[in-house]
Parts: sequence; structure tokens; C-alpha cells
Amino acid sequence: MVNDIEKILETIDLETTPPLEEPMRQYYFLKKARKYIEEASKKAGRPLTACTTTFGCQMNARDSEKLEGILHQIGYVPSQSEEADFVIYNTCTVRENANQRVYGRLGVLNSYKKKNPHMMIALCGCMMQEPEVVEKLQKSYRFVDLIFGTHNIYKFAELIVNCFECRHQIIDIWKDTDQIVEDLPSERKYPFKSGVNIMFGCNNFCSYCIVPYVRGRERSRNPKDIVREIEQLVKDGVVEVMLLGQNVNSYGKTLEDPITFAQLLREIEKIDGLKRIRFMTSHPKDLSDELIEVMKNSKKICNHLHLPLQSGSSRILKIMNRKYTKEQYLELVDKIRAAVPDISLTTDIIVGFPGETEEDFQETLDVVRKVRYDSAFTFIYSKRTGTPAAKMENQVPEDIVKDRFDRLLAEVQTISKEESKKVEGQVLPVLVEGINEHDPDLLTGRLTNNLLVHFKGEKELIGTITDVYLKECRGFYYMGEKLEEQEGSGTWHN
Ligand code: 5AD
Ligand code: SF4
Repeated sequence: MVNDIEKILETIDLETTPPLEEPMRQYYFLKKARKYIEEASKKAGRPLTACTTTFGCQMNARDSEKLEGILHQIGYVPSQSEEADFVIYNTCTVRENANQRVYGRLGVLNSYKKKNPHMMIALCGCMMQEPEVVEKLQKSYRFVDLIFGTHNIYKFAELIVNCFECRHQIIDIWKDTDQIVEDLPSERKYPFKSGVNIMFGCNNFCSYCIVPYVRGRERSRNPKDIVREIEQLVKDGVVEVMLLGQNVNSYGKTLEDPITFAQLLREIEKIDGLKRIRFMTSHPKDLSDELIEVMKNSKKICNHLHLPLQSGSSRILKIMNRKYTKEQYLELVDKIRAAVPDISLTTDIIVGFPGETEEDFQETLDVVRKVRYDSAFTFIYSKRTGTPAAKMENQVPEDIVKDRFDRLLAEVQTISKEESKKVEGQVLPVLVEGINEHDPDLLTGRLTNNLLVHFKGEKELIGTITDVYLKECRGFYYMGEKLEEQEGSGTWHN
């Protein structure tokens, strides 16, 4: 990839006007940005550094890898410190507290900027798609150099060039797009696993959720582009991919030649050298029998499914616009468990949606007890301006919500601890992800069901899949022992 980029850049003449078509236009700006950063670095008498901070979901994490790819290509040295020469926040706005955190931290960035004449501050991501946010930044946060949204991150190199050329606040927010630009550089956090976008946006309009407004309409990437990207990743040493989309089960519906998510998975399964496939997020309303069949027969799809419930009350689900009932959700879980008995199920649950009564909440607890999730992300409902739920009058008082949240969390954690224990004593394949953060003698890896395992081993194992004896479950993770080399690896996936 790096060599390919260098070859493309060699053909570009900066004396000519920038090309109009993508991705060539961005390569032009990449080359131009390199010149500016080289000059600035000479002036500073040191290499310039860049720090990316990511808020929110895995989609944002993947977007940040693209931002980091460009920052690296134009000459910034990666840094963990927010006192760097280029600091970018890739923001989230799914809940209000995420916004508050960003405003809080911006004050600190401003104090760093006053001490460093080379420093630039950029903000991008979902929060920037909200007009009130941009207004506030324009008015009270003039020291922010660059503001852009979710639809034009592929233009990052061009926007940085704009920043160098006209030193005032640059704002570039698009309301929506139907464009998907392929073949731009990206930096991977791990050499052995990677997120892969398969679609962007969301058409579901769950009544509490701001995502469809800030991420735009659903757009699927071409299956050929996805397969090509994964083949390249595998060549670079990747063994596990996480297919990313807000609602992967409706993948492909809007393509010129429509294909289903299940068909896409079949194609990805064929890629030699790829060992593990994960995906998220699945909307229960679109999870097809075809997909369950593919999961059942796959050797590579991990035995983990994230299936957001949101609420266990059919009445609330209707007002949430989720398009399934409690009974339909439970039937779906039964069907999945019948096909893939050892599957690990995780979920998202919101408490305190407008009008939620104690009876509604009991329905949620009932589903939690029936499904017995391996883990669950629990959220307090957050009012998002612009969504239908924000206008609903019967918002639930804070103390009641807090009490329900605590009860739900206690239930979820008790069950999750019990469920986590169920593979104790087994020998299972683990993808070794790195050295343990707290104990350098240990390695940390992940089971296909997504649980972490810590065990003694050589660091050469990082990036490989190796069999580990799961000696002791400690709450939500395992302490294990590496097995000595032996033939075969049992009957489990991978
Ligand atoms: N309030 C609380 N939680 C929310 N989520 C989405 N919107 C809201 C909101 N307004 C949760 C949902 C979703 C997860 C990513 O975030 O549970 O699945
Ligand atoms: Fe939000 Fe619903 Fe779309 Fe998920 S499916 S991103 S909760 S609107």
C-alpha cells in the first residue's frame, strides 16, 4: 500500500490545478500537505506530531484509522499526547454526556495551543453534524482550526491544506452524501485485526436515536470493493475482520445489483488466510433465516452476536419504532440458539425511555432473565434534540430512571458472570492481541465469543490463534494456560 501511494504521488504535478475526480484529488492534496508539513517541521526544528482522540463506537474507531492514515502519510509523527502539533477529536453524539466531555476538553487544548504556535485543532464526527454545535463552536471556540462532519472525512488531506493556506476557522459540513470514496490510505491499530466498513448511515429512525440524522441515509459499499479490501488486509497479516455498519442485516438492499448480508458473508468466508469474521450491529427486525443458516455453517464467523434489545416491552418498542415485539425478539433468540447452540449473545438496553412504566421495565428484566445475555451495554435514555422522542411529554423522572438503571445493571452483571463461566475447563482457540496491560509476563487474547483470556506465553504469539486451557473464570475474563504444541484443535470454530 505504502509503495502504491508513493507511485501515485510521483505522477502528481503540484503546478497543475487539482484534479476533480476522487480519489486522485485527495492524493494531490496529500502531496501538497506533505510540503507544508515539511516546511513547518523545518521551522520548528523537529518533527511535527499528531494525536487523534476517538469518542463513541467502532465506526468512529475505524474512521479514526483513516484520519491517522492520512496524518501519517502527510508527515506527522503519531503521538499519544494532546500537546501534539495537530490534535483531532473524532466525536460522538449518541448521548448528551459525550458532547459535554468534548466541550470540557477543548478548554485544555486551548491552553496548549497558546504555548505552541504550530498547533492546529480539528473536530470531526457525529457531533459536528448538529447545527447548534457548530454555531456554538463558531461563536465561543474560535481557536478550533478545522471542523468537518461524517460525510467528508475522505477530504481530510484537502481540508488540512486549506488550513495551512488560510489561517482562519474552516468549517465543512455536508448534510448527506451518496458518495463512497475507495482506496485512501488508512492506519491500522492492530496488525492482525481490522474493522471493515460495509455500509454507512442508517434508515431506521428509532425514535430516540440521532444516528440517522448525523450519519445520513444507508449506503452499502460494493461487495467487490469489500472483498478486495479484506484480501489486501489478509496479505498484510490480518486474520480477523469486524464488518461494520449501523444495521448490517440490511446490507446490499440499495445496491444496483442487490445482494444480502448473508451472501456477502459467504463471499468473505472464501477468502484464504482469513480466520475470523465478526460483524456489528444487527437489527433484530432484519435478521434473516438465511443469515442464521450461514452462521450455522460457517467455519470463520465467530460465535458471538450483538443483538440490541433496547426494551423488553412491546408497547415501548412500538413507540421506539423498533418494528419487533418482545415475543418476536425471544423467538428470534430461540431460532439462533437452536442453530448455533454455543453462541454468545450481547445486547444494548435503554432505560427511562419516555413513558416507560415499572411494568414496562419489568418486561425488560424478563427478557434479560430469559435470554441470559453474555454481556449487555445498558444506557440511561438521553434526550437528543431533533429526534421524535425528545418531543414526547412523559419524560421519566431522573431518580426513577437511576433506580431502574441500577437494578438492571445488577441483574445483567449477575447473569453475565454466570454465563462467562460456562467454558471454564475447556481448551479454546484464542487470538493473541498483545501483552497484558497490568502484567508484562502475561499475554492477552480473545475467544471467538469475545471474552478476554490472560495467560503466560511468548510475545511471538501476538497476532496468532493459539489453543489455551481456560483454567479459571474471574468475573468477565479468564486466566488460562497455553497448551504445548499438539495435533488438531478440537471441534470448535477456527
Ligand atoms: N439515549 C440512550 N441510549 C441511546 N442509544 C442510542 N440513542 C440513545 C439515546 N438517545 C444506545 C442504543 C444503541 C447504542 C449504540 O446506543 O442502545 O444501540
Ligand atoms: Fe440508531 Fe436505530 Fe439506526 Fe441503530 S438502528 S443507529 S439505534 S436509528
